Amino acid sequence: MYPHSPLARQDRSANLVGERGLTLVGAKRTHPRLALHVDGLSKFYGARHAVTGVSFDVHHGEIFGLLGLNGAGKTTLISMLAAELRPSTGDAVLSGLSIRDQCRAVRRMIGVAPQQMAVYPTLTAVENLRFFGRISGVRRAELAGRVEELLHFTGLQDRRNDRVATYSGGMQRRLNLAVALVHRPRLILLDEPTAGVDPRSREEILKMVRRLRDDGNAILYTTHYLTEAEGLCDRVGILNQGTLVAVGSLEALFADLEPSEVIELSGLEGRIDLAPIRAVGGICRVVRGRGLVRLYVKRAADLIGPLQKIIMRDRSVRLKVTALSLEDLFVHLTGSGIQE
Ligand SMILES: Nc1ncnc2c1ncn2[C@@H]1O[C@H](COP(=O)(O)OP(=O)(O)OP(=O)(O)O)[C@@H](O)[C@H]1O
Ligand SMILES: [Mg+2]
Repeated sequence: MYPHSPLARQDRSANLVGERGLTLVGAKRTHPRLALHVDGLSKFYGARHAVTGVSFDVHHGEIFGLLGLNGAGKTTLISMLAAELRPSTGDAVLSGLSIRDQCRAVRRMIGVAPQQMAVYPTLTAVENLRFFGRISGVRRAELAGRVEELLHFTGLQDRRNDRVATYSGGMQRRLNLAVALVHRPRLILLDEPTAGVDPRSREEILKMVRRLRDDGNAILYTTHYLTEAEGLCDRVGILNQGTLVAVGSLEALFADLEPSEVIELSGLEGRIDLAPIRAVGGICRVVRGRGLVRLYVKRAADLIGPLQKIIMRDRSVRLKVTALSLEDLFVHLTGSGIQE
């Protein structure tokens, strides 16, 4: 799990985009080999802006997490990068090939595990892998060996000749991922690859994704499970209503934020008067919701005294101080939640 201590957040290679404008802080590159360069990609459906001016890079040997709530634009972005959906503006380049102008060549280099399962339920795992291998251009001489390799990788050897319709959700997801890999793509696009699976199956899938990364693959991974991204992704992009509001390693994103701690007040009956606490200063954001008030603060210790004075009047109120979690970071950057 990610170490939340502010002292641990020394890497300052984040790009924070949005309110603060685009700031390039440092240029520490731990993954120097570029796999994908995305440049101002947008998709408009009439007046609806599904994706707006998104730019980021993905390197070999890196899992880049694209985090966003439902409807943030993750699948739209993946579909454009997979050269399945034409961008309204912008472009992305993969090994010198443009997704706009060289669609066919790009498709051969990319492996996509779509959010909606893309395997045939009436075929077996072997039949699915063979079929997708053939249509992805894998040579006959190589295909049998590749199918064996992937059955082993996914742990589906024992069920290889059973129809996919008889598989558990987790097994189907693993096969969905294997199909994306059959032609040894240079860039792997995984759109919510753990959607709807139980925690054990999720861990198996994450282990597979880490192995792919450790073998030097470039991986773009979308999810709205923030805790999953926290333990998995080398860098993340936070997508909010089609716009990328921050890009960088988690360390860098945390380090660039003003607040470093969260004070959570629970058991509040009505609206709490925060005026005396605000007078102390150091509150960066207030989020109210689900019977809680969360204060994003620079230094909790400075505010505990004034808060206790208010709380003493109401014995049911509880106070908890935590370091910022990825969920807090997400709320702070996207403004989701009910705020003052
Ligand atoms: N073909 C389409 N026509 C019109 N609007 C669309 C179309 N496809 C997607 N959208 C809209 O674009 C926005 C982004 O959708 P998208 O599916 O990319 O989000 P997402 O982040 O993948 O969401 P989820 O987490 O639910 O999968 C949404 O508002 C969606 O309604
Ligand atoms: Mg989606």
